[in-house]
Amino acid sequence: MKKTCFTILLCFAWGLSSYAQTIQQTLTLREDNVEEILNAMTIEEKVSLLVGGLGSLVPGAAGYTREIERLGIPMTVLADGPAGLRIQPKREGTDQTFYCTGFPTSTLLASSWDPELVETVTTAMGNEVLEYGVDVLLAPGMNLHRNPLCGRNFEYYSEDPLLSGKMAAAYVRGIQKNGVGTSVKHFAANNQETNRLENDARISNRALRELYLKNFEIAIKEGKPWTVMSSYNKLNGEYTQQKHGLLTTVLRDEWGFDGIVMTDWGVKDGTVKSAKAGNDLMEPGRQVEIDRLLAAVNEGTISQEELDRNVRRMLQYIVKTPHFKGYKFSNKPDLKAHAVVARKAAEESIILLRNECNTLPLKGSEKVALYGLTSVDFFGIGTGSGEVNTKHIVNMQEAMTEAGFTLDENLAEFYRTCYATQSATEKMEGSAIDKRHRSEPLISVKAIERQAKDNDVAVVVLGRIAGEGADRAVKDDFELTSIERELLQNISMSYHKAGKKVVVVLNIVGVIETASWKHLVDAIVLPWAPGQEGAHAVADILKGKVNPSGKLPMTFPINYMDMPSSKNFPYYWDMTKGRKGERPNVDYTDYAEGIWVGYRYFQTNNVEVSYPFGYGLSYTTFSYSKPKVKADKDGFVATITVTNTGKVAGREVVELYVATPSGGLEKPSRELKAFAKTKLLAPGESETLTMKVSAYELASFNEEHSAWETAAGTYEVLFGSSVSDIRCTATCKMKARSWEVHDVLGNPKE
Ligand code: GLC
Repeated sequence: MKKTCFTILLCFAWGLSSYAQTIQQTLTLREDNVEEILNAMTIEEKVSLLVGGLGSLVPGAAGYTREIERLGIPMTVLADGPAGLRIQPKREGTDQTFYCTGFPTSTLLASSWDPELVETVTTAMGNEVLEYGVDVLLAPGMNLHRNPLCGRNFEYYSEDPLLSGKMAAAYVRGIQKNGVGTSVKHFAANNQETNRLENDARISNRALRELYLKNFEIAIKEGKPWTVMSSYNKLNGEYTQQKHGLLTTVLRDEWGFDGIVMTDWGVKDGTVKSAKAGNDLMEPGRQVEIDRLLAAVNEGTISQEELDRNVRRMLQYIVKTPHFKGYKFSNKPDLKAHAVVARKAAEESIILLRNECNTLPLKGSEKVALYGLTSVDFFGIGTGSGEVNTKHIVNMQEAMTEAGFTLDENLAEFYRTCYATQSATEKMEGSAIDKRHRSEPLISVKAIERQAKDNDVAVVVLGRIAGEGADRAVKDDFELTSIERELLQNISMSYHKAGKKVVVVLNIVGVIETASWKHLVDAIVLPWAPGQEGAHAVADILKGKVNPSGKLPMTFPINYMDMPSSKNFPYYWDMTKGRKGERPNVDYTDYAEGIWVGYRYFQTNNVEVSYPFGYGLSYTTFSYSKPKVKADKDGFVATITVTNTGKVAGREVVELYVATPSGGLEKPSRELKAFAKTKLLAPGESETLTMKVSAYELASFNEEHSAWETAAGTYEVLFGSSVSDIRCTATCKMKARSWEVHDVLGNPKE
């Protein structure tokens, strides 16, 4: 009898434990049991998934999501930034280093006009994200270049939404090919840094739909990013992180986004409003957000459906991550190989702005007088969360020497000493010099005249740095400093008197004034902030090893105030002016220029610029064939053949603009609707490029009807080497089409 009871007990105990095990097995998150897990979660567990947590797995990472061990839900790791992974390069307790590659910044990538190149760069970048144990790269930054003074423009692409959107989509595809995620940011209208946490961007629906949202729409539809980061600012009176119309109606219902939305690194008091609006994840995450959400669930101010909707999306995100999949990251990405990718990308993107009498390319063996503190203290990337902790940023002295040039050693030593003094000052002061106000050392005319005799050519490197948290200024930033102007004048006078040439290299993070001094010099090369290997790319272009093929992704105006947005940008107003309690361009910014941003304004109104959108020179020349434009069932297909008519191999970007039929809405005289870049064409070689434009892409936004509308009529199709250098045209008839959308974005007048 006893034996029987014992056996029954044993069986019962076994049954219980195997049941428990079974339960345990079903209670572990898998890709195919999200609903089951959701139903098994407690309220506390659900809320904890919506609020970022702390972590130490990857020192230097920006943030984490929380782990729920009971259910096999791992924490995941989120880290910056657009020019490369940003994590701490050194860690306690190990000699191993964790440097990352500093790739070309976004403005330079956009200057390539080559989505395939961008995808190649971010395929390498995404490998570092994976191998250093990060799940989501908080990039690409992609707010429009509304104004040259925005401090974070280097992290962004362009003044044009099509170019910006196509670049961002390619960026996302490359990163996510590695099985890690991206976060397109900052959604939306974060186009200035001044008072970025509270500034209310007041924008018409047409400017929003056609410009400030259009690039995100393209990135979402063609890149399919895992996540979106809402911005800090308000949009038409409401924080974007709390704007249901933006985060749910437009982003999800209209554009089909199926990932998660996270806040930027600061949650407003209205945590519950953010969650209800469709902001799934609150970063960096504090206890107060958990408390607020728990209270809201208990009071019913956030419904079970809303809570489950956000948690479900978090679970669907988590099951995609390398951490969930248990990926064994190596902490040893191939940085050498990635440096090669970074250098090649810079070579393909740098812009040649001026090349009088074929000053460039140089022979490569010249004696070079290399001027400018930036020739030593070279800006690979900008500042803030967009920075990358690289092992080394190659400077112009190193690059020019390695390329075979002979530097004027006295002059080189002078700048190295200036830089060493600057570094010693920083060390003694215990704080970094604010390089936005770094002064250029002056050199006497006597010395310059001697250098003009001793050397074959002068190369002057001018630098500008900026970044997150502050916008740029006009004086001594957008405009040259008096010392820079004097230096250029003296160098120009002395070298031209000696029958020598002057080349300027613009190592800048944003547009500067060029019209007043460009006539002083013979050539201007624009590498922007080209990443850790960018100086090598500059040197290779100067010596003709690489034929430049980059083109401007924005306009260089003659004067700052020529930009339509400048009257409504922080710099223009003294911060204290304006109505009591409300400071224009600080507490709020009226996007009064509407759609008239960049070339849309300059080209339509025939306002002269220093360098137009889409402009860039080559060491060779190209001819364009007669284009063919054929209407198809949805829009048109354009083909054009480009031939290299010069003496060296090169690549050409063909820009396709469209002029819509007159009548109806007031429209820009032409808008970029497609572009394509040839492969490297040998002299005499041709390539036929094909570009497709849909009827939807031809539409303008009609606020009255809350609809995209493609008017019936004859459209002029312009093929250009820049927005103002149109080589040939064609026409195409379109039928009227319209697409209604929700009127949920508020109005600037509210
Ligand atoms: C910053 C930036 C954002 C960055 C985040 C995490 O405030 O606005 O671009 O990804 O915080 O560092």
